[in-house]
Amino acid sequence: MKIISDIKELRDHLRGQNRASFVPTMGNLHEGHLSLMRLARQHGDPVVASIFVNRLQFGPNEDFDNYPRTMQADIDKLEKEGVYILFAPTERDLYPQPQEYRVDPPQQLGDILEGEFRPGFFKGVCTVVLKLLSCVQPKVAVFGKKDYQQLMIIRQMANQFALPVDIIPGETIRAEDGLALSSRNGYLSTAERAEAPELQKALKEVRLRVLDLSGRNTHSLHEIEKIAVELLAGRGWQPDYIAIRQQSDLAPASNESLQAGEPLVILTAAKLGKTRLIDNLEI
Ligand code: PAJ
Repeated sequence: MKIISDIKELRDHLRGQNRASFVPTMGNLHEGHLSLMRLARQHGDPVVASIFVNRLQFGPNEDFDNYPRTMQADIDKLEKEGVYILFAPTERDLYPQPQEYRVDPPQQLGDILEGEFRPGFFKGVCTVVLKLLSCVQPKVAVFGKKDYQQLMIIRQMANQFALPVDIIPGETIRAEDGLALSSRNGYLSTAERAEAPELQKALKEVRLRVLDLSGRNTHSLHEIEKIAVELLAGRGWQPDYIAIRQQSDLAPASNESLQAGEPLVILTAAKLGKTRLIDNLEI
């Protein structure tokens, strides 16, 4: 595997090859990330991965400085997956000048759910993803459904800018007890780690209740959300949201969408101690 930090060197290296299958990450790689490498490979060689902890998407009180950086272990894992190039730019490589041009996603997608609790987050994500796509110029780029709203926003960005790339979704990989794998799971204490699967259980409970409703009224949808939030809060969580949304645009599920059997998704973010976890479940 070739490890490249310089944009020009990356371009030189990719010139004359098939367009790559690309997986952008912030490192501290786990099986979730590696499953995306395998999915990328199915879409054709060469597979390019990137590792870059993107300052632009971290809020002032978030964990940028403490975000786990495990480069050598990550390199070993990517080598085993047969990744052709690891693009691992420094901040100076990727942002040689301050990144003043930024991509602001539309409010109705970028300022809800994660965007409400992490102002500017998706602006930072879109900006770095557009730049990474511009560096790698891949044929396909793979993103996990674990970050459901991120996947949707990037898909729409690619669509509206007519980027010549297919955005491919990868399924969420979980630990045996149901906890979605995440770099932030490493922050959990032993007791918190034992409690963490309750987040996924809460989503499953919400799904059961929604299926039970089979088209009554949206009052009940709000009630279902509220009950789930209270349940988690009662167990010591600090939930930011549990939201039943339409898969198509993440707008709140309505009476009509419920009755029409529209595909829905339940999204959640909640803090356990100091660690903020997110998860989602499609209906
Ligand atoms: P990061 O959190 O490192 O995630 C990189 C990719 O791995 C994302 O597409 C994410 O959805 C996916 N992923 C994370 N956990 C997963 C799991 N358990 N199963 C399947 N896929 C999983 O997301 C980012 O980085 C950044 O925002 C980035 C897109 C790289 C821009 O900086």
